[in-house]
Amino acid sequence: MPDQNESPYVTHVFVCTNDRGGARKSCADNNSPSVKSKLKEAVNGRGWKGKVRISTSGCMGLCAKGSNVMIYPQKIWFSGVLPDDVEEIVSAIEPLVAED
Ligand code: FES
Repeated sequence: MPDQNESPYVTHVFVCTNDRGGARKSCADNNSPSVKSKLKEAVNGRGWKGKVRISTSGCMGLCAKGSNVMIYPQKIWFSGVLPDDVEEIVSAIEPLVAED
């Protein structure tokens, strides 16, 4: 029987890095691995490690609108994200961390 626990994070950010190699549209077409690494760098740089978790995700079903980034449990979803958009996502995370 599995253990059920409360999430240890204030917020958990999932970045879809699914890559279909051009066969069909996927988040990696918009360089989502770079979105993820830049987000991780920004979160660590602000001292949010342990509060904000950045994780790679598989396909989340909105492939034509990639890159997709979802923030849970707050139900915030960014689509069409490019590496240069990371600061906008960080701005959405900031009040969540401040509320904690
Ligand atoms: S490939 Fe990212 S949502 Fe499907």
